[in-house]
Amino acid sequence: MIKRIGILTGGGDAPGLNAVIRAAVKTAIYKYGCEVIGIRNGYDGFIEEQGIVPLTVQDVRGILPRGGTILGAANRGNPYARKIIRDGKEVTIDVSDEIIKGIERLNMDALLVLGGDGTLRIAHELCQKGAPVIGVPKTIDNDIGGTEVTFGFDTAVTTATEAIDKLHSTAEAHHRVMVLELMGRDAGFIALHAGVSGGADVILIPEIPFSLESVVAKVRQRAERGTYFSIIAVSEGAKPKDGKQVFSRTGDEIYVPRLGGIGQLVGEYMEQQGFETRVTVLGHLQRGGTPTPYDRWLATRYGAAAVRLAAEGKFDRMVALHANRIVDISLEEATATPRRVDVHDDAVITARGLGISFGDD
Ligand code: F6P
Repeated sequence: MIKRIGILTGGGDAPGLNAVIRAAVKTAIYKYGCEVIGIRNGYDGFIEEQGIVPLTVQDVRGILPRGGTILGAANRGNPYARKIIRDGKEVTIDVSDEIIKGIERLNMDALLVLGGDGTLRIAHELCQKGAPVIGVPKTIDNDIGGTEVTFGFDTAVTTATEAIDKLHSTAEAHHRVMVLELMGRDAGFIALHAGVSGGADVILIPEIPFSLESVVAKVRQRAERGTYFSIIAVSEGAKPKDGKQVFSRTGDEIYVPRLGGIGQLVGEYMEQQGFETRVTVLGHLQRGGTPTPYDRWLATRYGAAAVRLAAEGKFDRMVALHANRIVDISLEEATATPRRVDVHDDAVITARGLGISFGDD
């Protein structure tokens, strides 16, 4: 018998977070007669004032199509490395025991943690300390191990594909090369899926180091065949064969380094080679907006399944999608190896067959 569960949304937001919250609240209340509480701003809610809020069916009404998260997110909310000011100086402290105490104090039978790799790794560590945590895989990057899809990814791909469609018409009108930098961290899924769906001519992803000469060769080949515009979809984590990833900000023990700038680098090179080029960085538009029907569907199934796991007392687990079925895997497995584009998979083979260049030939 579960009597009370908690929900928190950690890390950066992704479309579908509210759909998971809604499904979990409704399932918990209608199916199990269980009370639900929300923890605001990721793990921080356990230690901050007014960080705990009740979640009723009334509270989740109307949130299914809403992007963001009604609980707030915090992507510096690592309880193992919390920055505070002590005696006028910034120091990093471990407050993980406060989280454990908070779970006990609030009489939570389970805590659902909606997050990406960082948040889920913390969830697993909290389980080692006895916390009854269940993970739900969230990220637009689709880079969590042990699941075929994370919620938020489909919406990001839809936004990125629409951007490529829009760039196409202006690229063609002005005979220009358009470079579109997309998110994804070290995984090229967004660029690959949107690039193929939007008909990009070149797709650059972290899993396939590229050469600038090869990108130019592809664009030149198109021009020689009478097509004077090209679309280059570049993942923020893509890197030249003999170079490094490009970062716009260095990291520290709280923030991971921020990727950004590879699109500009590619664009400048194209200009140097005589192609009029414009660079667009799609940025956080990929994280915003209403979730697609697929993301709502997946998020709803994940949220309900996470509550069923709680009722079964299965902790230190994460809901996952395998062959279109919802299953559960250990958080250890989910966080052991991040998911990356399989360069031998049919998606890459298909793209190559269509004449799309990955900048590696
Ligand atoms: O992990 C999701 C993601 O949007 C990445 O694709 C991107 O690199 C990063 O988060 C951006 O983080 P922030 O919101 O901190 O700028």
